[in-house]
Amino acid sequence: MWIKRYILAHGPRDCTPGVAERYNRPMSSDPSDPRHRPVRSFVVRGGRLTPGQQRALDDLLPRFGTGDADAPLDLEHLFGRAGKPVLEIGFGNGESTWRMARAEPERNFLAVEVHPPGVGRLLLALEKQEVDNVRVHLGDAVTFLENGLADGALDGVRIYFPDPWHKKRHHKRRLIQPEFVALLVRKLAPGGLLHLATDWVPYAEHMLEVLDGAEGLENLSPTGDWVERPSWRPETKYEARGERLGHETRDLLFRRAAGADREPVHTL
Ligand SMILES: C[S@@+](CC[C@H](N)C(=O)[O-])C[C@H]1O[C@@H](n2cnc3c(N)ncnc32)[C@H](O)[C@@H]1O
Repeated sequence: MWIKRYILAHGPRDCTPGVAERYNRPMSSDPSDPRHRPVRSFVVRGGRLTPGQQRALDDLLPRFGTGDADAPLDLEHLFGRAGKPVLEIGFGNGESTWRMARAEPERNFLAVEVHPPGVGRLLLALEKQEVDNVRVHLGDAVTFLENGLADGALDGVRIYFPDPWHKKRHHKRRLIQPEFVALLVRKLAPGGLLHLATDWVPYAEHMLEVLDGAEGLENLSPTGDWVERPSWRPETKYEARGERLGHETRDLLFRRAAGADREPVHTL
């Protein structure tokens, strides 16, 4: 059932040649055109699920998943306990997700990824490592944020190595854009942290420009740009690949400014 809904929402999972290309191509840039599809930060990739990943999606997603999240979630109910909610977007194979969750047991992690094999891998790891403070959403983070979370619901957002979309004509697909950041700011509680990392310096510079221009965010870098890698961020799979290619990593750490009537939740 989930797969039918997923395909309807995102396109084919196991793509025959040409189908993914057709699906991923924006059809019209005019929002009033019925063929219009918004520019996405991801492509629907082909690739089969292993039997283990398939089992995880069938058996473990009901246990660790958020469900459709088409209305704001009751997070305490979802996790079965109170805890500071942190959203990780685009976790890839989920290795750093379960490691962070194990190292920060007081937090409740919401983890969102569009790639089903990666979701399957994380679910298997959660079961094996007996980590229970992660709930997983298979789908687009933009829709999840818009529909599945109340404003001010999050204590933190972590986005590690979002696809850099190197080519200029693809820059519009980059996740970090002013509109998206405004949405993130709305979902953060005052004092909540926004932590980004990338191994592509031109993208880091773009991120800095967008975050500096966003209303309600303050940069926690003492030098006004990057920070040292915070202790809570493990090295990710994508980062390790970048290092092998000689790329430099940049971490950006911003805080949602506390409203006049609220105390900041976080200090460094
Ligand atoms: C370059 S990978 C990085 C994965 C992981 N964070 C790491 O560092 O190894 C970016 C990931 O973001 C996911 N992604 C891109 N856009 C997304 C979106 N709108 N919602 C959820 N996941 C997304 C992709 O499927 C991909 O797995």
